[in-house]
Amino acid sequence: MSKSPVISVVILAAGQGTRMHSNLPKVLHLLSGKPLIQYSLEAVQGLTENPPVVVIGHGGDVVRQTVGSAARFVVQQPQLGTAHAVMTAESLLKPEADFVIVTYADMPLIRPETLHQLAETQLANDGPVTMLTAYAEDPHGFGRVVRDVDGSVQAIVEEAVATQEQLSIHELNLGIYCFKAAWLWDALKNVKVSPKGEYYLTDVIAIARINGHKVKAIILNDFSETIGINTREHLAEAETLLRKRINHQWMEFGVTFIDPATTYIGPSVRIGRDSIIGPNTHLRGATIIGEETSIGPNCIIEDTVVGNRCTVLASVLEKAVVDDNVSIGPFAHLRKGAHLMQGVHMGNFGEVKDSTLHPGVKMGHFSYIGNADIGDNTNIGAGTITCNFDGVNKNLTVIGANVFIGSDTMLVAPLNIGENARTGAGSVVTHDVPPGEVVLGVPARPHRKVEKSD
Ligand code: UD1
Ligand code: CA
Repeated sequence: MSKSPVISVVILAAGQGTRMHSNLPKVLHLLSGKPLIQYSLEAVQGLTENPPVVVIGHGGDVVRQTVGSAARFVVQQPQLGTAHAVMTAESLLKPEADFVIVTYADMPLIRPETLHQLAETQLANDGPVTMLTAYAEDPHGFGRVVRDVDGSVQAIVEEAVATQEQLSIHELNLGIYCFKAAWLWDALKNVKVSPKGEYYLTDVIAIARINGHKVKAIILNDFSETIGINTREHLAEAETLLRKRINHQWMEFGVTFIDPATTYIGPSVRIGRDSIIGPNTHLRGATIIGEETSIGPNCIIEDTVVGNRCTVLASVLEKAVVDDNVSIGPFAHLRKGAHLMQGVHMGNFGEVKDSTLHPGVKMGHFSYIGNADIGDNTNIGAGTITCNFDGVNKNLTVIGANVFIGSDTMLVAPLNIGENARTGAGSVVTHDVPPGEVVLGVPARPHRKVEKSD
């Protein structure tokens, strides 16, 4: 039995990205919070076991640092065009690859399924290359696909060197190909320098024809896949297209969007069925939202887990964990390490950081809780502050269950308040409070025991 053919992937990322007018390499610009190159790397995952080869040049070290061990790297210096870029990967790939897929790192919305189709088509093809094309209303900025009278692909003509007639062609080159490797390495040697001083990879299509080969083309129907990022305008267009794609998927899955046009869901976010996402809401990073939860309007939630049947209104949540049946906001801020357990209510203008609020805690208004552990069903009065920072260290506040913290209490940490205790309004609590005791004043002193109800 013959062994199955080996596919290798080259991702071109060495171009300067001049049209971005940026200090940052083009492929590190963020799309929905993720560097462009990350999208290309994810799209080729699963095509082959060989890690992709990324061709870097301009800003190469930062690109290498960002991508890390997910790829192999070759440096193209100077950058003499896309054909020259592929040639820099030849010595690495010649010994291993039967087929070479070339993609551009500035085409972030290509779907993995499309690349699979490209590979399958070329593996079954007698000719040396299969390429991706699409028809566009406005093909500006792309190479045009020139076809024969019989409809077969003849050449790709770059905009910079195209005739008026060629410019009016609406079929564009996506810049993504699958080649027979041995043929590709030979063909690249025959690419001539363009009037602009570059070696265009696109010229190998005409070379195939001249050598009597047929070129296969797959025409894509989904316009969103065709977007190439050359300018900040393109980057904004890609944001819109990606947003539409992601929101569509969640609506299909069973999530309600009041206004998809103003709802920004990151590519790694997960949302449970029957949740409702209000306008002007941003869900980012590794955020997970449960089922039947209502988020927004006006929320920014990053790297946070929110449970089932919660309500979050006009609030900012970062690196927090929220269990089921919690209500938050308006205007609440959860920061890293905040954990709101079952049924907690956190009202307006509160901030919680590195703290656990146990089930049933109520924290209605104007409070800061930092480095604290608050017991079951405890009530935090309006304006309560944990004075957790003494200028050097962050100190802990531990409050037991069923405690009543009066309005405007300053809790000077480190501090322990036993269960069933109470503090009077305006107290400054500097010493531990035993269970069941009432303290008040500045500094707070014991007043009397809470009366037993039975
Ligand atoms: C390229 C294609 C064009 C196609 C379009 C699709 C060529 C000559 N043209 O044009 O037909 O319609 O993409 O988006 O291929 N790069 C290098 N080294 C270089 C030059 C470029 O690595 O020396 C990389 C860039 O970083 C980029 C990619 O190759 O990721 C494409 O380069 P770019 O300059 O954006 O080509 P386009 O003009 O968009
Ligand atoms: Ca481009």
